[in-house]
Amino acid sequence: MRGGAAANGKLQKTRKKACDILFSNSDKVWRNGSAVRRTVPSRENYTHQWLWDSATCAMGLIHVDPQRAYDEVYSVLSGQWKNGFLPHIIFDPKSTGYFPGPKVWKTEKYSPKGVLTSGITQPPLVGFSLWYLYQNAPNKKGVIEFLKSVLPQVKKYHDFLKTYRDSEDSGLLTIVHPWEGGCDNSPLWDSPLTQIELDDVLDRLKKLVDSKRSDLKIGNHNHRPQSADYHRYIYLVDLFKKTAWNQEKMVKISPFAVKDVLFNSIWCMSNEALANCFRMLNQPKEAKKYEGLAKQTRKALMGLWSKKEKLFLDVDVSHGRNKPILENTIGTFAPLLAKAVTLDQLPSLITRLTDPTQYWTDSPAPTTAVNSPKFDKERYWRGPTWPITNFFLIYGLQNYIKYP
Ligand code: DGY
Repeated sequence: MRGGAAANGKLQKTRKKACDILFSNSDKVWRNGSAVRRTVPSRENYTHQWLWDSATCAMGLIHVDPQRAYDEVYSVLSGQWKNGFLPHIIFDPKSTGYFPGPKVWKTEKYSPKGVLTSGITQPPLVGFSLWYLYQNAPNKKGVIEFLKSVLPQVKKYHDFLKTYRDSEDSGLLTIVHPWEGGCDNSPLWDSPLTQIELDDVLDRLKKLVDSKRSDLKIGNHNHRPQSADYHRYIYLVDLFKKTAWNQEKMVKISPFAVKDVLFNSIWCMSNEALANCFRMLNQPKEAKKYEGLAKQTRKALMGLWSKKEKLFLDVDVSHGRNKPILENTIGTFAPLLAKAVTLDQLPSLITRLTDPTQYWTDSPAPTTAVNSPKFDKERYWRGPTWPITNFFLIYGLQNYIKYP
């Protein structure tokens, strides 16, 4: 009993701390003549609005202040381009320290009038967050009104992704930049990034990166990506900018093109979430369409299982390649979210998760297996624990194991 009370007290304290951070990182900004409330990931380097971070914040906020959760989604959708694209960053014009800022992306011809954005996307978590908000909202009438107002935009984003990132109709979307994968600095991107020869990165770009990197001015350098990685990140941004942010061209010419397990598991889960929303709103035709997309992706994800490695593997598909990426990262558990793990595969994933030499550490599951040669307990996404990926683990496992 006493242990239970102590654990509960600790939980309440953590919850309060999380709320304090969420509230202190959120404020109102002007976008195209209207005030929107949004949360920034940090008050240091990440001082703008990020797509999947905001979808996550909304899921936290629904438990304490539903209106704030809805505002988070409204504000993230205010960055939507005409073609349905949702950018990974919406910039706050008043905050000028972050690199690469709007001048590097130069998307103002394509983004909504008066809204400055990046030109790449991030894991499509926003669809899932809508269903999560519905399930956890205390006032169902209020959340239904909210859903009706945002669903057309989220649906447009899904239609955009399907059209441009899966033009071959494989069920798996392609990401064209490591930042699109969300796990920015994961070992998963090491091999595909080598397709970009450092000698091909113009000196002008290298100098720009080296003189402007804002992340290195703030934190510990050992936590951040290496210089060669940043040169390649900005090489890709420059390449896409030269296509005038034309999605077809971007996917075709990008030396970095990956079918990522985590991104696609979220895609599957979000399509299922949209189907649930439409079903609840009595729109069976729409529900069927997104259920169909979820099914297609689930099947395709199953094909990413390597019997030999007992891992779900990303695939490098740049310039017609079809090369599995052999890395052991937290992403291998993501198909649990998509219900794409068979009952035969489940025990080996659980064994991996509960192995102290891999993921069962003193902290919640790390982002890269401890016994991977790429594990680095300080450098982000190469080891350090991340709350959202642990949420995915717990949520995904609930699809298979019913907790008492
Ligand atoms: C960064 O780390 O600055 C990227 O924008 C990641 O999203």
